Amino acid sequence: MSDFAEIILEGKSYKLPIVEGTENEKAIDINSLRAESGYITLDSGYKNTGATESAITFLDGEEGILRYRGYPIEQLAEKSSFIEVAYLLIYGSLPTEEQLNDFTNKIKIHTLVNEDMRKILDGFPSAAHPMGILSALVSSLTAFYPESLNPNQKKEELDLSIVRLMAKMPTIAAWSYKNSIGHPVNYPKNKLDYCSNFLHMMFAYPTEDYEINPVVVNALNKLLILHADHEQNCSTSTVRLVGSANASLYSSVSAGISALWGPLHGGANQAVIEMLEQIIADGGDSKKFIAKAKDKNDPFRLMGFGHRVYKNFDPRATIIKKAADEVLTALGVKDPILDIAKELEEAALTDPYFVDRKLYPNVDFYSGIIYRALGIPTDMFTVMFALGRLPGWIAQWKELREQKEPIGRPRQVYTGEQERNYVPMNER
Ligand code: CMC
Repeated sequence: MSDFAEIILEGKSYKLPIVEGTENEKAIDINSLRAESGYITLDSGYKNTGATESAITFLDGEEGILRYRGYPIEQLAEKSSFIEVAYLLIYGSLPTEEQLNDFTNKIKIHTLVNEDMRKILDGFPSAAHPMGILSALVSSLTAFYPESLNPNQKKEELDLSIVRLMAKMPTIAAWSYKNSIGHPVNYPKNKLDYCSNFLHMMFAYPTEDYEINPVVVNALNKLLILHADHEQNCSTSTVRLVGSANASLYSSVSAGISALWGPLHGGANQAVIEMLEQIIADGGDSKKFIAKAKDKNDPFRLMGFGHRVYKNFDPRATIIKKAADEVLTALGVKDPILDIAKELEEAALTDPYFVDRKLYPNVDFYSGIIYRALGIPTDMFTVMFALGRLPGWIAQWKELREQKEPIGRPRQVYTGEQERNYVPMNER
């Protein structure tokens, strides 16, 4: 392989170094291009642009491969726990028993949030979307822990900021749900594991304890692992971009939560269920909706189908599909939405429009179905995604800081008016 690429601009040749990753991913390093030639590259949606070198997650969209720190997602989903995976992503290697116990216990003792945060929560109307509350409350953690604003915290200080965020996100997330239904919040119970504690805060009532069901806990654990990182996607790139301005961990993650909220990204899991409900309400004709999705004059898209990088299959979807079947059987759930989902999936997978464009069901197509079976309300689905993605955001922010990456600042090709003189009001 040549170790440089040659580009000829206006008859002049420029040599650009080739960079190769550990999985033979190749890139042309254009760092010197503009300074030497005056040219920039244009790549809308960053479809061909690597924004960083990263050692956290490897993803091969053609082969349907996803690995965290080298470990296949299938093995982690089967054998690991969410907290262990979080440690792996953030610190780079699987923890020893002692390290895992230490990390778990530290998270347990930081699950409470300051009572004054409840006052902020009380200020939100009950109709507020929980993703908006989550983003706002994560950002407001900076007010309670101003030392976290220092992007150059020493290792122990940063570790504490990380633990606090991991510990308080489930509390904030569950409280945002309680706020939306006008019920009192539940305080964390630290004898419970991470997933059970979250379920307790979501579903216990002052009048009734929540009975922990291991099927539900295991399913949640798996879902969080599957969502834990996905390399340079929209929300993670947001976290890194915000972090590159030396913004703090909490404010960067808060920005990531906002990006994830979008229905083309994490918001798709909510949109999938709403779409399936719409199909049922409309009489259950999935073919009609497939036709709508194919109609270029109709903005409707089949939510939960297609992916920017997976052009073969989404390995997370394969695992989740199996888990959805298991969970629904174990819980004895009969959901008409599942029948419509299966119909839609079958119809789309055999339709040339979807086949030609390599549009397969993605992780969000099935995750909503499990969340529904677990009793999680629809507008909390994207919050669940955010809970899962948190360790990935933390790991990516930390890596950005450790690699001392420069502030992110894309260029543009200007297409507006050339210089013109101001026109007084009476002459316009
Ligand atoms: N329904 C109908 N047509 C679609 C869909 C869809 N869900 N997705 C893509 N297409 C078509 C699109 O119209 C285009 O057709 P053409 O070439 O004729 O113009 C072609 O497929 C390529 O689409 P694109 O928008 O250029 O692809 P992209 O890589 O920019 O977008 C995507 C990827 C995920 C935003 C898109 O597939 C989509 O909007 N899917 C639905 C939303 C969704 O499920 N998002 C969750 C993604 S997984 C969770 C996560 O990791 O964030």
